Amino acid sequence: MKRRKFIAVSGLLASALALPKRLFSSAPGDAGLDAKARDLAAEMTFEEKIAMMAGKLSFLAPSIPGPYQAVETPGCPRLGIPGIRFVDGSRGIRFEGSTCFPAAMARGASWDPALEQRVGEAIGYEGRAQGANFFAGVCVNVLRHPRWGRSQETFGEDPHHLGRMGVAVVTGVQHHMMACAKHLAGNSIDRSRHYVDVRMNERTLREIYLPHFQDCVNAGVASIMSAYNSLNGEQCGHSKHLLKEILKGEWGFLGLVISDFGLGIKKTVPAANAGCDVEMDRRRHYGFKLKLAVKNGRVPMENIDDAVRRNVREQLRFLPLESRKDYDLAKVGGKEHAALAREVEQKSLVLLKNENQALPLERGKIKTIALIGELADTLNLGDTGSTWVTPPYAITPLQGITRAAGSEIKIIHQTGQDLESARQAAAQADAVVVVTGITRKDEGEGFDRKGLGLAPREEELILAMAEANARCVVVLEGGGAITMERWRDRAAAIIMAWYPGMEGGNAIADALFGDINPSGKLPIVFPKSEDQLYPFDNVSKLVEYGYYHGYRYFDRQGLEPAFPFGFGLSYTQYKYGNLKLSAKKISKAGTILASVDITNIGGRPGEEIAQLYVGCQGSRVDRPVKDLKAFAKVYLKPGETKTAQLEVPVEKLGYYDDGSGKWMVEEMEYLVYVGPSSKKESLLTDSFKVV
Ligand code: BGC
Repeated sequence: MKRRKFIAVSGLLASALALPKRLFSSAPGDAGLDAKARDLAAEMTFEEKIAMMAGKLSFLAPSIPGPYQAVETPGCPRLGIPGIRFVDGSRGIRFEGSTCFPAAMARGASWDPALEQRVGEAIGYEGRAQGANFFAGVCVNVLRHPRWGRSQETFGEDPHHLGRMGVAVVTGVQHHMMACAKHLAGNSIDRSRHYVDVRMNERTLREIYLPHFQDCVNAGVASIMSAYNSLNGEQCGHSKHLLKEILKGEWGFLGLVISDFGLGIKKTVPAANAGCDVEMDRRRHYGFKLKLAVKNGRVPMENIDDAVRRNVREQLRFLPLESRKDYDLAKVGGKEHAALAREVEQKSLVLLKNENQALPLERGKIKTIALIGELADTLNLGDTGSTWVTPPYAITPLQGITRAAGSEIKIIHQTGQDLESARQAAAQADAVVVVTGITRKDEGEGFDRKGLGLAPREEELILAMAEANARCVVVLEGGGAITMERWRDRAAAIIMAWYPGMEGGNAIADALFGDINPSGKLPIVFPKSEDQLYPFDNVSKLVEYGYYHGYRYFDRQGLEPAFPFGFGLSYTQYKYGNLKLSAKKISKAGTILASVDITNIGGRPGEEIAQLYVGCQGSRVDRPVKDLKAFAKVYLKPGETKTAQLEVPVEKLGYYDDGSGKWMVEEMEYLVYVGPSSKKESLLTDSFKVV
């Protein structure tokens, strides 16, 4: 694999400023750094300041496929300020040869922030080793409707879950370089993203679309990218309300705001006055037009100074002290990160159905497997937009399954195009595994899914395979919910494998043969049909977002989805019991602690993800039946019991009051639900009062 040349990013300023030894801090800011940024900015000329406020293409090898992957903003060489070296991603670093992790949505299904932090560490390392210092691949947009083309880039549909996963990856990445969380805010339609005005009331914005961004800010994220869409009539990159009042004002964000690329800002003055600090990906509004606007007083100089200070401060905070000499290029796409990619996919696989113990496929008993489907022999890593990663190699399901089967088990692979021949192969085998799903042709940046089901041909293939062999296992790939009512009852087992990353084929095989026990849970609802959902409009100029989506919507409508939010089976079973709350009455300043005993009552070790939801009775405003407020993962050997601890600060139980602009925690009874998924019947309940 060809390696790119080093580009000397920095190191210059370090000695000049005698910076403290370790700067990869996740503390949002410190006074010393502030003062240094201020001093440096004060030394810069007007021209130098303006220069820092826009990007330009491109600092690394142009051999990388696709546009926008490598953008820089000028630094100030005279003062040793290196500038921003932007790289995209989300499933890895967008340079050739980098590790391709499972898509973010897959990682969301792991419900494992500690693991996600390790992914962030690896991504950050690979980015720094290749010369970048700014990773823009942290997408924490709410998946509102599963037809959104970029579903795969985010972690799920719930603000609490998104916040925990977002913070984890930001923390990991920021051990090496700046991370940027995106796209603020309400960005969850792709086809019309450049012009759509998303309307929602302030309460919906604050409770559903913003909390996870604030979590990232509290964790010290260096940068936030504004969204392409408008929000309540204002382009997000021009929105004083979003950027100045909420982000930099109320939340105290000290980092820099960058615009989304190209059409993220459309005018100079509103953007510069709203607090958009850097125009990406190149200068359209923040060059001559900005200078003029400052000179004629339409943009106060103070705004320019603030933008530059923020930019310099974040660069100082992450400035590579020893430059990149500690970073080993051999680790990029190397064994250690590949092993992590495999572990992540193992923990992201969601076992949706498993009847008659169709899985795992026991070695020794199974002699022949018919492996059917085009995707069995296809690298299906996800979108080719800004998340594109070109790994050094990738393992298809066919390769992984063939390896894991060894010499004892015969694998007969067919694409399924010749249905008769596939039918015969399935009928003669001990089990049939169909690998199917959706691909980058069905979903991706700039367009949305046309529907939620598989292609009819694929559905017919599954039906035929299930008819030919009762032990029919379906492995699904894709970045979001897939409807499957036409064939769900017929398949004996179903595994959601998402876009599984470069080690995906191995991880899928590990699960099929029972070398690992799948433990992922859905970070989104899987509806039975699109009819169960609110409309998805990706054409209109104006789209109204109501408060309810995902599981909150299903709860409210009393609808039963195909698979609920938080759902996932295992090769073992767990029993929940002994739910205890730390208090029956608690003050608004308190934290309620729930403990629950989880016992592995099956025959295999496994990891269980316990979830805690809170509902309430007698609120003065309309409230969801329940909201996810905590989750925890426990590893259990067969027969073992562990007590999971789930904590909820009472301040997190408030609603946002549009009138007063304040969060209100009501004194009333709250219902606590703890269990293996959001399905009400599976949850233990108790209650407490806030007094
Ligand atoms: C996307 C961003 C991305 C940027 C650069 C834009 O079109 O919306 O998420 O970071 O391109 O690739």
